[in-house]
Amino acid sequence: MKIGVYPGTFDPITNGHLDLIRRSLHIFDRVIVAVAPNPKKQPLFDIHERVAMIKEATRDLPYVEVEIFEGLLAEYMKRKGVHAIIRGLRAISDFEHEFMMALLNRKLDSDVETVFLMPSEEYSYITSSAIKEVASYGGLLKDFVPPVVARRLREQFQKKQK
Ligand code: PNS
Repeated sequence: MKIGVYPGTFDPITNGHLDLIRRSLHIFDRVIVAVAPNPKKQPLFDIHERVAMIKEATRDLPYVEVEIFEGLLAEYMKRKGVHAIIRGLRAISDFEHEFMMALLNRKLDSDVETVFLMPSEEYSYITSSAIKEVASYGGLLKDFVPPVVARRLREQFQKKQK
């Protein structure tokens, strides 16, 4: 049984992330979506909310689990018996950072491999940060994020405006 881990901050999960999760199920028998608290990034949603939104958005995908992970990804992988890291590459601009992370993880544990998947072109320009900006100005979200996330983003920004 091949297990992949898809780590990230997911603040919040987008349709691009979901596309990648679906694609990764063609390669792995099980995929763990591992959500990092990442306080340095000052996430809009707290970790439990991010996990809840991912669970809701992946309800139809039986071989997907969602977990919080803290500490080093390489150590988490060993604990969980995970075979490879899954990361998305949208454009060349992602490459340098992803290349550095993949090599660093392999230096920390020589067994760690990273598999890069390209999202569908229609999602190649979507980032969680851009979506939050669109939401902050009341823009239409339905093409970018699952319904549960669109609803929560609207609630968050209405709350902030009060
Ligand atoms: O969605 P992101 O913010 O690009 O995800 C980054 C993430 C969470 C995958 C990365 O920061 C990470 O793996 N953090 C855990 C700490 C770690 O293992 N660091 C060494 C590899 S960069």
